[in-house]
Amino acid sequence: MGSQILPHFTSGVIVKGFGRGSKVLGIPTANFPESVVEDLPKDLVTGIYYGWASLHRQIYKMVASIGWNPYYKNEKKSLEVHLLHKSQGDLYGEELKMIIVGYIRPEKDFSSVEELIQEIRNDITIAEERLEEACLNKLKKHDFLIK
Ligand SMILES: Cc1cc2nc3c(=O)[nH]c(=O)nc-3n(C[C@H](O)[C@H](O)[C@H](O)COP(=O)(O)O)c2cc1C
Repeated sequence: MGSQILPHFTSGVIVKGFGRGSKVLGIPTANFPESVVEDLPKDLVTGIYYGWASLHRQIYKMVASIGWNPYYKNEKKSLEVHLLHKSQGDLYGEELKMIIVGYIRPEKDFSSVEELIQEIRNDITIAEERLEEACLNKLKKHDFLIK
């Protein structure tokens, strides 16, 4: 599951997505630019991941979706990140750094938006728990995020 290439370090300046994350799902996501998505390792399979992110030197747990969002049938591959416990706010133009630490599941299609929301909530719970494991927790102090 691409775990041999994790953790993966990446950063970029946040761009506008379709705006569905906060409006429709109530789960705001930060979208990375195309160049960052193209630079992801080719053998990093699409799917849902968790890890650490830093914004303005503040560290957050994060969940990330890499792929085509089958529920919305996007034509372009995207990298979207939801920061846990971050109050709502516009992130466009801000630099976000992140360490993709682990894989949760493949992207799925759903028959309703409620099911998609439920699944993302479950991803958030999984990320919360796994990032407390000592070997993964220590990555939040990595120089890459702090400097
Ligand atoms: C943790 C997480 C898991 C997601 N899982 C799926 C998924 O299984 N299928 C899917 O179609 N989209 C999935 N998404 C993507 C959402 O559909 C997407 O974030 C939403 O459409 C907002 O996109 P926008 O910012 O471009 O408007 C996931 C997003 C996150 C943050």
